[in-house]
Amino acid sequence: MCLKSLFGITASQNSGSPQSSRRPIESWSAAKELRAGFESHELFEEEILYPEFDQFLSTKVAIGDAFEAHAELDGLLQEIEGTPANNAGWIERIRELKSRMQEHMRAEEEKIFPVARLELAKTRAEELGRRFQERQK
Ligand SMILES: [Fe+2]
Repeated sequence: MCLKSLFGITASQNSGSPQSSRRPIESWSAAKELRAGFESHELFEEEILYPEFDQFLSTKVAIGDAFEAHAELDGLLQEIEGTPANNAGWIERIRELKSRMQEHMRAEEEKIFPVARLELAKTRAEELGRRFQERQK
């Protein structure tokens, strides 16, 4: 599940329906779904994408920041899961989660993915150039 679809869940929770009209079980279940979706996002990036992109000097700092953001979001998700959904602060934590996830997603989309795409293309082009030269020998 991508983060954007996770935001759909929180966006609908924030879209005007008062907290008191939501049954706690629905909120709890949405929080579980958020966590499962985020874990999937996190595993894919930390095990596959980030190690690949970490070879590029131009993305190293942003990758480090992304790992930190994942850890902070994990902590927030754990906190939300441990908070009863009918607790007054619960919806505030969900809003904070949404805001931090959007910030993280924006950082990935602006600072990591475009740079990594260029670096990967450059690496691939260099590899093809090398192979071409080897065939010319
Ligand atoms: Fe991420």
